Amino acid sequence: MGGSHLDDGLLGSRDLPSAPSNERNGAFMTDASRRRVINWLLNSSFGALAAAVLYPVARFISPPEMPEADTNLVEAGLSNDPELVERGFKILRFGNDPVILLRTKNDEFKAFSAICTHLDCIVEYHRDESLIWCNCHNGAYDNQGQVVGGPPPRPLQSFKVDLIDKGPGKPNAIVVSRV
Ligand code: FES
Repeated sequence: MGGSHLDDGLLGSRDLPSAPSNERNGAFMTDASRRRVINWLLNSSFGALAAAVLYPVARFISPPEMPEADTNLVEAGLSNDPELVERGFKILRFGNDPVILLRTKNDEFKAFSAICTHLDCIVEYHRDESLIWCNCHNGAYDNQGQVVGGPPPRPLQSFKVDLIDKGPGKPNAIVVSRV
C-alpha cells in the first residue's frame, strides 16, 4: 500500500502491512506536513482576503474620530487671490468648519460660516446679486449673512476679517478669525 490519506486515517499505523517502518513514517510525515502547509496557506489566504474586504468597510462605517482643531485664526491668502478676484469668494477650512470668504462688489472682505443654517449644505456667493446662496433648498442670505429668502431659520455665523499690510505695492494678507 502506498500510504494514501484514507488508509492512514482509517487503519492507523498498527494495522499497516509490512512496509518498512522508516519509509512508512517518512510518507506519513510528508503527507501531514503537506496538509498543514496547504491548510495554513488556505487559512491565511482567506484571512488576508477577509481583511482586505472588511477593513475598508469597517473604516467607512466607523471613520476615525478627528479631533476638533482648536483654531481661532486662519491666514486666508492674499487680497489679489485669483479665486477671490474672479469668483468673488472662496471656501476656507477653519479647523473642521468651512468658512466662506467674500470679496464684495465694493472690494470689501467678509467671512461667514459656509454651513447653511437650514440643513447644513455648503453655501456659495453670487457677487453680482450680493447674495450668499444655498442651492439645496434655495436659501438666500445677504452679504451681511442675514436671511433674505428660503427656509434657513437663522443668519450665518460671522467671522472677523483683517487685512495685513505687507508693504508698498504688495497685496494685503487676509486673516480670518472668530468674532
Ligand atoms: S440646506 Fe440650505 S436651504 Fe436647505
